Amino acid sequence: MSKYDIAWQVMISEEEIQKRTRELAQAVDRDYVGQDIVLVCNLKGAFVFLADFCRELTTLHEVDFIATSSYKGTTASSGVVRIVKDLKADIDGRHVLIVEDIIDSGLTLDYVCRYLRLHNPASIRIVTLLDKKEARKVEIEADYVGFEIPDKFVLGYGLDFFEHYRNLKFIAEYKGPE
Ligand code: PRP
Repeated sequence: MSKYDIAWQVMISEEEIQKRTRELAQAVDRDYVGQDIVLVCNLKGAFVFLADFCRELTTLHEVDFIATSSYKGTTASSGVVRIVKDLKADIDGRHVLIVEDIIDSGLTLDYVCRYLRLHNPASIRIVTLLDKKEARKVEIEADYVGFEIPDKFVLGYGLDFFEHYRNLKFIAEYKGPE
């Protein structure tokens, strides 16, 4: 028995995620015809979605990673975000598509967008698998949204419960300690 043995319930199935991921990639393909874009994956949570999403994409692209330390664990209202792993790619003049697993308060993405703009990209758009609109603390919207979800704690498909459960093939809702 571990303190990470928890109860959860499937919220979005593997099949639903696969289908929606294909649709998102098709929408992005339609919008970037003839372009060579940079996918910027915000670690860690987005790595699973990125892996599936980029393999559905036919648009030419480069993949790069950024990592942020969040304000979580302090107070959500502090909103302090730091870059802990920087980009390798030169995004000057390039079309950037940020790949996120979830937008919650929006504080992380707000910071990441402002940071990336300093590097003079031609454009910045956002694709997120999950969007918790009702939890928003700053005004930020994704250009491509997989699923709008209620303000519940979710895990799986890259999202963690104290660094565990990122490997689940579906999105689950946390239902409390087992
Ligand atoms: C999650 C997620 C987003 C952010 C969204 O990352 O991947 O980056 O939170 O929350 P926000 O909209 O309230 O800022 P987290 O900080 O949990 O780190 P992780 O991806 O490494 O698990």
